[in-house]
Amino acid sequence: MSNRTFTMIKPDATQKGYTGAILDQMIKAGFSIKAMKWTRLTPEQAGLFYDIHRERPFYQELVDFMSSGPIVAAVLEKENAVADFRTLIGATNPAQAAEGTIRKLFAASVGENAVHGSDSDENAAIEADFFFSKLERF
Ligand code: RTP
Ligand code: MG
Repeated sequence: MSNRTFTMIKPDATQKGYTGAILDQMIKAGFSIKAMKWTRLTPEQAGLFYDIHRERPFYQELVDFMSSGPIVAAVLEKENAVADFRTLIGATNPAQAAEGTIRKLFAASVGENAVHGSDSDENAAIEADFFFSKLERF
């Protein structure tokens, strides 16, 4: 089991000024930051990041949204990181997210849902490599 996951604070949340509050939730839940950057994805980069969803009906909407404003990308460390982080962020649709989860607190809709969290150790490594070199992880 890996002890790292990858997250993004999505453009809806950065633009509403929720970045600090969301990071606070992650840190209070026991995750430590191993890499972090504030950046903005081009539509091409967003399309590559979410290539796994290319055939899904929401793909173009997702690419447009993820390139619509700044994001925070980060690598987080904790025991059982991938599963525990998915629990912390809550269901994809904030209407179905448990009380106290980041998406329940900060997300507006199933599309604009405030945060990304890797869904497996393998994808966490791939996604971290998309944003960060070895020299950017401590
Ligand atoms: P994420 O990858 O961002 O952590 O979200 P997730 O695993 O909970 O959900 P996933 O199925 O991987 O979907 C990726 C992102 O696509 C957008 N989406 N929109 N309009 C829709 O029905 C729909 N479904 C998914 C969301 O931004 C979702 O987080
Ligand atoms: Mg996903």
